[in-house]
Amino acid sequence: MPRYFVDLADLAEARGVDARKFSVGIGQEKMGVPPPDEDVVTMGASAAREALEQVDQDKIDTLMFATESGIDQSKAAAIYVHHLLGLPRNCKSFEIKQACCGSTAALQMALALVAQKPDRKVLIVASDVARYGLNSSGEPTQGAGAVALVISAQPRVMTLDPEWGAYTEDVMDFWRPNYMDEAVVDGKFSIKVYLKALTESWAQYARESGRTFADHDRFCYHLPFTRMGEKAHQQLAKLAGVTEPDMSLLAPGLHYNRIIGNSYTASLYIGLISMLENTAADLSGQRVGLFSYGSGCMAAYFSGVVSAGYRHALRMDRMQTQFETRQALTVAEYETFYQHALPRDGQRYKTPHHTTGPFRLSGMESHKRLYESTVTAAAEPTNIQVAAAG
Ligand code: COA
Repeated sequence: MPRYFVDLADLAEARGVDARKFSVGIGQEKMGVPPPDEDVVTMGASAAREALEQVDQDKIDTLMFATESGIDQSKAAAIYVHHLLGLPRNCKSFEIKQACCGSTAALQMALALVAQKPDRKVLIVASDVARYGLNSSGEPTQGAGAVALVISAQPRVMTLDPEWGAYTEDVMDFWRPNYMDEAVVDGKFSIKVYLKALTESWAQYARESGRTFADHDRFCYHLPFTRMGEKAHQQLAKLAGVTEPDMSLLAPGLHYNRIIGNSYTASLYIGLISMLENTAADLSGQRVGLFSYGSGCMAAYFSGVVSAGYRHALRMDRMQTQFETRQALTVAEYETFYQHALPRDGQRYKTPHHTTGPFRLSGMESHKRLYESTVTAAAEPTNIQVAAAG
């Protein structure tokens, strides 16, 4: 996650909105804000670096990068990550897009690749910056973050079930034309389509697996904001004839998203990590139902069983340290970051130092994005004053 965040109580005050609308109505407390030298590549590479700590990199056959905050129309963000991590040259690297569901499309493809070559692994990086307009209704649902998943025939965290339900429909609930930096959203419509896609993909999943609502011990949903996950769970329960569902079966999975914000492709999987790390009971052997939704739209319902010993694969202290060292921005500072733009005329430009992550976007030259590893080139972060260069 980025090093900076805005407290939504401050945003509510600045926008003249009752703070309970954000904390209760949409269920968000804080939103992550990327500084000018952080983007989907640096966040994704940082996540992947940690995910690969205990993995033999020579076994990585494919790197798939899922994002809807792409930095280039042609070149995949995966190639930059491949370089920053020093992955083997034989590792295929490409980008996948279908709004927030791109990471799940990558996951299903990865299962097929691993089934074909069980001695190889697939690295999936899901990284996004959720960006709506300043002062828009979507503004409090912004955020940023990345997740890296290592898919292997010997899973340490979760074994995915083979049955999947899917749903596709051509709708305009959320999109971002090539000439825009912010998403266009029909927010209320997107909630309706999300719930319809949940009903439809669940129906196929239930038919194919023969499982019922009661066969699942825990639930994770795509979380544009945490209240959406609660609405989704209530709907799924209603379909199953359960009038008062046990909301504690999803509550631990909402925690990280509530304080990071939306991270599009990463959101469902940050929710899964949140559930695994914040549930005191041992989840070994428990079946988790997972719903992925990508506006536009494509959705998937699938499930997995938590591996025995999954806690050894988690780094439970890592997220906590990141939360403790994050810095709060004032609304004015957040707006300065928001308005920062990279040059569009090919001029040489150095981004100011802000991120303390292992990689940073150091600047641009001749229309090329330049990245550096900060593990070797340590630099003091500057203050929030940044020039809008574009
Ligand atoms: N105290 C408590 N709750 C309050 C409140 C207050 N003072 N004021 C409003 N609320 C509640 C509303 O009742 C509503 O709850 P409900 O949906 O359960 O009825 C909720 O807060 C949101 O209020 P609403 O008026 O609908 O907000 P909005 O018009 O600003 O839009 C979104 C909300 C989510 C549609 C908007 O943030 C958005 O477009 N987000 C991006 C798109 C998105 O995330 N889509 C989800 C599917 S991918």
